[in-house]
Amino acid sequence: MPAASREFSVHDLANRLAALSDFGSAGAGVTRLAYDPAWLEAHRWLRDEADRLGLDATSDWAGNLFFHSPDIDPDTSEPVLLVGSHLDSVVGGGRFDGAFGVVSGLLTAASLQGQPGVPIVGFATAEEEDSRFHGGMMGARSLLGLVSPDELDAVRDADGVSWAEALAVACAEGCAAPMPSGLPPRAPRIPLARSLELHVEQGPTLEAEGLALGIVTRVAGYRRWRARFDGEARHSGTTPMGHRKDALAAAAELVLAVESLARERGEPAVGTAGRIEAEPGLFNVVPGRCEVWLELRHSESRALDVLETELGRRAAGVAERRGLALTFERVSTQEPSALDATLGDAARDVAAELGVTSCRMVSGAAHDTMVFARSGVPSLLLFVPSQGGISHSPDEYTDAEQLFAGHRVGLELCRRLSARSAT
Ligand code: GLV
Ligand code: MN
Ligand code: MN
Repeated sequence: MPAASREFSVHDLANRLAALSDFGSAGAGVTRLAYDPAWLEAHRWLRDEADRLGLDATSDWAGNLFFHSPDIDPDTSEPVLLVGSHLDSVVGGGRFDGAFGVVSGLLTAASLQGQPGVPIVGFATAEEEDSRFHGGMMGARSLLGLVSPDELDAVRDADGVSWAEALAVACAEGCAAPMPSGLPPRAPRIPLARSLELHVEQGPTLEAEGLALGIVTRVAGYRRWRARFDGEARHSGTTPMGHRKDALAAAAELVLAVESLARERGEPAVGTAGRIEAEPGLFNVVPGRCEVWLELRHSESRALDVLETELGRRAAGVAERRGLALTFERVSTQEPSALDATLGDAARDVAAELGVTSCRMVSGAAHDTMVFARSGVPSLLLFVPSQGGISHSPDEYTDAEQLFAGHRVGLELCRRLSARSAT
């Protein structure tokens, strides 16, 4: 006889999400950056919560957290079905981005604990948002054994703190396991049969179509660059316009270039300049140096190649025309990823049986799931609607009943996949 599965209500989900959203730094929305004090507190709370639900919580060396039956030893386990999302947030982010999938995965692991079949393990990845460090999906990559040793020192935050130093703090706080023999392991901490991520859509499609569930077929990729113009800092009152080498004015041209490029290419291309910093940053000095952060996204790698070449060409053109030096450096990349069609079909069937309306869709946002999928793990991402399509904002909102509908589909899908794979 299969063990009776434990039932959770919409309130169980909503209350835990509300509790998790309290772990953030001061300011509007949720700011919980990888390994920062709010992240450490949230990590500890999740471990306690797993304990209260009768699950063990195990961290890996990178601070990824796994929720599992005490019967499972992550080091010797048979392949598992991993279900969850990421623990970190952007600066001033919403309450649901990542957190929804983490809580849903935790409740799913608790619900299906003791069922015969492939073990269900909930997860919270340590870092997905690229907001404190810019290593690119550091959580999912470390979970999968896709980190090179030099990244631990090379990846640094804005204050110069390296990934290794941040990890040492997390480890001392009990939120990351010690690094095995000093080097990142080249294999997953837990062998993976499949992965599932529940997430808010972060865009307007489901709400506009009046649908409850998005079954993601493909996730758009991104490329990110730091461009720096070096010109000449000069007196703003006495340097004639024709004699200037204004680094900020050059960067401004590039800001508009990334926007035009995406518009010219058309959907689904999007282009963003997310940060600009000029020096010395005064009223009365022509800026001598300016750095700008640029990002382009598209669902096809070939389109990203074309966009990247053209952006580089336009940046070089600006520098040459204005007589400035240009440093153009690619910071991180995630290639577009196709998700598992069979899992997508299974999710569609479950949703239909549960009376949850659904459609197939492409994700414009990046997700841990793309890393799992590209490493060969059959993987699926499911969306619930986002009010007004708003995300990466304190205004992000999804109704608790909508969250719960997605959770129910994920839970039932996990139950079936676990049982099916056991036979
Ligand atoms: C993550 O949310 C991203 O798409 O950058
Ligand atoms: Mn996000
Ligand atoms: Mn997210």
